[in-house]
Amino acid sequence: MSTLKAVRGTRDLLPPETSLWNRIEATARAIFARYNFGEIRTPIFEDTSLFARGVGEETDIVSKEMYTFTPADDVGRGLRGEGCARSRHGGDSEKSQSLTLRPENTAGVVRAYIEHKLGETGQLQKLYYIGPQFRRERPQKGRYRQFFQVGAEVIGPPSAGSESPLRDAEVLEMLATLLDELGITGWTLELNSVGAPADRARYNETLRAALVPVVGQMCEDCQRRAITNPLRVLDCKVPEDQPIIATLPVIADSLDEESKKHFAAVTAALDAAGVPYNRNHRLVRGLDYYTRTTFEFTHGGLGAQNALLGGGRYDGLSEAIGGPKAPGIGFAMGEDRLVLTLQALDQKAAPPQVDAYIAPLGESVNAAALALARELRRAGLRVELGDGSFRLKKSFEAADKTARRIVILGEDELQSGILTVKDFATGVQSKVPRAELVNFLKQ
Ligand code: HAM
Repeated sequence: MSTLKAVRGTRDLLPPETSLWNRIEATARAIFARYNFGEIRTPIFEDTSLFARGVGEETDIVSKEMYTFTPADDVGRGLRGEGCARSRHGGDSEKSQSLTLRPENTAGVVRAYIEHKLGETGQLQKLYYIGPQFRRERPQKGRYRQFFQVGAEVIGPPSAGSESPLRDAEVLEMLATLLDELGITGWTLELNSVGAPADRARYNETLRAALVPVVGQMCEDCQRRAITNPLRVLDCKVPEDQPIIATLPVIADSLDEESKKHFAAVTAALDAAGVPYNRNHRLVRGLDYYTRTTFEFTHGGLGAQNALLGGGRYDGLSEAIGGPKAPGIGFAMGEDRLVLTLQALDQKAAPPQVDAYIAPLGESVNAAALALARELRRAGLRVELGDGSFRLKKSFEAADKTARRIVILGEDELQSGILTVKDFATGVQSKVPRAELVNFLKQ
């Protein structure tokens, strides 16, 4: 029988690397708290039409990369009882409902915003999330089929100030602070504006016209995009196409006065806060919901998949999926890529050292050793518990690999209440009364 392995594009994350993941998440949560964000958890799968209408049918994500399934399969394969129960409750239509593993989380957050009528509070909603997303992309370093995002959205009715360029600048400033606190040096903020939907439509037509004389020399994808969605030509990575793309008109020239003013206010606030950025005219992003500000933070250490995170404003998304007017701005960081970057910067996850390794001398003191371990752990110490069947040499070897000190517990120690403790760094061996052990180990 062939051995079972994790599915292509998915990975097991193991210690000690997971401690790096935990550090990233803890730092992100601390920063989100400082900026007054609260956590939202939305389902891993949603109605397929949410992504089709929210992210856009024409995007690569929706047209090629989604994991879509129908619960009708379940009904036919052993979940018949549940299927019957469903039909009794009138949930039969669910059988033909198409579901999709979330390829991103902004559409889900906006769906939840609408469903729970969060706009009626009249307040800005500042929501963050941490969790897995799924895209059927060709796996490579930094690109997986199950990957993790740490993201946040600021959304609300216009009366709450959700359209203000200050919100854009504040989100970008928060990201710069978060990357700095994570110890990610050398990032670049790429910034652009894709304007209002009308600006984008106008620019698409300008591009379409500009592509006519040159598209014949471009790659097949570009030839298709030039007809279906010329904007996507700007995403092309084929080296031979780059000199042609460099001569195409830029979206900045198609923006209306309002969008130009909005963008100027974003950059003025970034300048005042001292957050550096590069204006990147080609940054139109691969999701259709963006309006006005778009951005990515990139890092040279990542190779081809160099986007650490991406985001932007989506003033029409709520209405596109049937909700009230609720402008918003947000971002998602690729957690896998943050880990890769920290590793490239040589911030390896050191295996954590425990405070003490308890070595019971003989199986008869195993139970007493567990009681001692419980006492120390409850006092907040990190403790590894050995086994009485080990010879002392084996206990010392195991302890030396994981712990700062070894605590020896034999019949004599139990009787006298005086334990032998050896510190591996100093080589000093001490006799410590049990009542003083916690304080001794905490030093
Ligand atoms: P996105 O640019 O599609 O935007 O993804 C955001 C980040 O997720 C990327 O910059 C990258 O770091 C990471 N990422 C994407 N795909 C993969 C993959 N296959 N493997 C590893 N990492 C990946 C969004 O998802 C938007 N929802 C962001 C947003 C929030 N816009 C507004 N609010």
